[in-house]
Amino acid sequence: MHNIAIVGAGKVGTVLGRVLVENGEKIVCVVSRTMKSAKVAGKFLRCKNVSDSLTAIPSSTDLIYITTPHEAIEDVVRGLAWFGDIDFRRLSVCHASGMLTARALAPVAERGATVFSFHPLQTFPRDFRPKDIVPTARGIYYAVDGTPKAVKTARQFARKLEGKVIVVKPEMRAFYHAACVVGSNHLTTVMSILESMFKRFGSSEKDFFKVFQPILISTLRNVKLSSPQAALTGPVARGGVETVAGHFASIKKLAPELLPYFGTLTLETAKLAERKGSLTKERALALRNLVHSFTKSDSKETR
Ligand SMILES: NC(=O)c1ccc[n+]([C@@H]2O[C@H](COP(=O)([O-])OP(=O)(O)OC[C@H]3O[C@@H](n4cnc5c(N)ncnc54)[C@H](OP(=O)(O)O)[C@@H]3O)[C@@H](O)[C@H]2O)c1
Repeated sequence: MHNIAIVGAGKVGTVLGRVLVENGEKIVCVVSRTMKSAKVAGKFLRCKNVSDSLTAIPSSTDLIYITTPHEAIEDVVRGLAWFGDIDFRRLSVCHASGMLTARALAPVAERGATVFSFHPLQTFPRDFRPKDIVPTARGIYYAVDGTPKAVKTARQFARKLEGKVIVVKPEMRAFYHAACVVGSNHLTTVMSILESMFKRFGSSEKDFFKVFQPILISTLRNVKLSSPQAALTGPVARGGVETVAGHFASIKKLAPELLPYFGTLTLETAKLAERKGSLTKERALALRNLVHSFTKSDSKETR
């Protein structure tokens, strides 16, 4: 597999295409909805064959990576299935969607192509320049489903990207994708909440990340070296109900819109602390009642 075509000249296609090029692979065609994007990506991927039409994909192509938004994948695949002068039995086709499985590629599979989903488990933010994201796209995991032969091809493709494959069953795809949302999008939202709280309590230092970086990095490092359970510290883990009550009272006064978030995460943290064995049943119950008193004033747990 050496001749690779990219369909969808956005962040994912451009960044992963560049990793392939830097690793000695050849991008034989870049197709996008507009010529403008195709040309910009083509320059970055050292590929002169750029187009806004799938017909530009040469018959010598070994693998087509569809990196369009997932809504466009069905149309692209239908277009590819019409190809007359390509030997589908030696062609592989995959897509980058986190939600869709290999089934989305059925029209080309029916013509004999090897098909698999190939979702990069990484974030490719729109406002960043591709060249700045390229280093973060090395050594990542790709979520894959397909036949055993297709998974083998996916592993070969991942190796060209210095990546690894995790096989996700099609019926677990949406759950897997929800986990990715927790790992990236929710984490970003938590950072945004932290930033807003930082602005609220005021400080001579203006950059919230600079101030919190040591505790953020250490927390991730501790989780990496042990587990979330072992890494957990703080008032909930210690059963410090009075301290947590003080937190809730200040949030109610200064940022009441954060009470649902703070309540939900306090309950989850209490569950983790119970599993860790640092929070007694009695203190856990007291914490749950405290949370309910600030979030759902009419309900009180007794067990
Ligand atoms: N961004 C992430 O963090 C991330 C992470 C993992 C997976 N993914 C998945 O990767 C895929 C691409 O995401 P992205 O962030 O790279 O999106 P993106 O930056 O919006 O790029 C998508 C590109 O697809 C092109 N396109 C749209 N419809 C097309 C069509 N019918 N034929 C050919 N090209 C078409 C667009 O072209 P024009 O520019 O010419 O209009 C655009 O450049 C999505 O399935 C996404 O779910 C994204």
